Amino acid sequence: DLMDQIRRFEEMFTLEIPKCKEITERFESELTKGLSKEGGTIPMNPTWVVGYPTGDEQGTYLAIDMGGTNLRVCEVELGQERGSFDITQSKYLLPEEVKTGSAEQLFDFLADCVKQFLVSNHEDQDLEELSDLHLGFTFSYPCEQHAIDHGILQRWTKGFDIAGVEGQDVVPMFEEALERKGVPIKIAALINDTTGTLIASAYTDPRTRIGCIFGTGCNAAYMEEAQYIPKLEHMNLPPDFPIAINCEWGAFDGEHKVLPRTPYDIIIDKESPRPGQQTFEKMVAGLYLGEIFRLALVDLVKNQPVKFLEGQDISALEKPYEFDSSVLSEIESDPNENLWEAGEYMKKKLKINANEAERKLIRRLAELIGTRAARLAACGVAAICNKKGYKSCHVGADGSLFNKYPGFPERNAQALREILDWPSSVKEDPIQVVTAEDGSGVGAALIAALTLKRIRKGI
Ligand code: BG6
Ligand code: GLC
Repeated sequence: DLMDQIRRFEEMFTLEIPKCKEITERFESELTKGLSKEGGTIPMNPTWVVGYPTGDEQGTYLAIDMGGTNLRVCEVELGQERGSFDITQSKYLLPEEVKTGSAEQLFDFLADCVKQFLVSNHEDQDLEELSDLHLGFTFSYPCEQHAIDHGILQRWTKGFDIAGVEGQDVVPMFEEALERKGVPIKIAALINDTTGTLIASAYTDPRTRIGCIFGTGCNAAYMEEAQYIPKLEHMNLPPDFPIAINCEWGAFDGEHKVLPRTPYDIIIDKESPRPGQQTFEKMVAGLYLGEIFRLALVDLVKNQPVKFLEGQDISALEKPYEFDSSVLSEIESDPNENLWEAGEYMKKKLKINANEAERKLIRRLAELIGTRAARLAACGVAAICNKKGYKSCHVGADGSLFNKYPGFPERNAQALREILDWPSSVKEDPIQVVTAEDGSGVGAALIAALTLKRIRKGI
């Protein structure tokens, strides 16, 4: 009956603490492997963001943010005081077809957005007069960087699939598009959203040591010293030279050694544009949670020996990627014992009529999937903290899961407590994952400022 099915889901999705600890341990050794000369599955990309902001960064910068769901153009003015800034921004919708279209289409679209932004925010100036502005390009996909203003796309993630970009430097591609559109602006830095988050959070909160994104994708960045990055040995950097590492930890466990994947995780991977890649991300990130949920429900109706939504038309449930993670959070957040609100929502969104027992199962499933994601995310955070020996710090976090999925931050914090074995007598968690400052606006501006400062000083 339905109770058996709930138990089946609980077995599949529950991560007990010994398992979390095993994952954390392997995660830590994989982070180290990624920094080695041989490399590993986790890319651990040096970003050439070298050190934290001092707080005296100044100036006005442009930033374009091509992240998970939104496309933004921002103009950021860094203030006189540490942590202060002013931001003007516009959001644009990146059309679905651009995500799987041509490279030229993508970069022309980005360049058009920058142009439109400049024209409407600088009505009294010619574009030519704006050529002193420097642009931080937040491009949140794995890039191999040999300099801060270059980056070769290693592979698309988060469902993007645009031919002719993987293996190429995306900076000249974007600069050519800016030129085609008559925008006389140069790209000062190529930035990952996690690195931006790390730097922006450190600017307002100097206890920050890690920047995380829990959104459409999932990833983290932290500051590493050159002596622990064997793959940069040939650069002869001073041993304590700090350099931010964009982990690209979504790639963790590509070998399928430790993560307990369910049949639904396996289907998601197989049917994605890049099977075999981003194993961890496909279990944690917002892009996939709704799809895991959908696959589990369809499996119940079609394959399991149970009466569930009997006789109903479930065609709305059969469309891949039809539901994003907000569906889980909506269903989870019904406070009523009989879940009537969730039931109304299911009628509207999933086009199903679920009785009370069915609603309870559906809600439990959402809770299990959301909790698994939060606990796995905690394994990644704990792994970086263990690797760096951080006993207390702040982790700046951004993204739709962290900000909009009720319970995600709490579940994440709870798992961190258990993984890191803090005694219950501790009043305040020594390591806290907190809402980040806008990494792709403020962080991009700070990184552009830090880069220009280095260029002026000749380092
Ligand atoms: C936004 C940042 O706040 O969060 C982006 O500006 C980032 O740079 C994004 O990529 C991540 O969240 P989501 O949910 O949009 O993927
Ligand atoms: C994906 C991208 C990574 C990004 C993350 C969060 O994992 O590969 O670069 O930081 O999503 O947006």
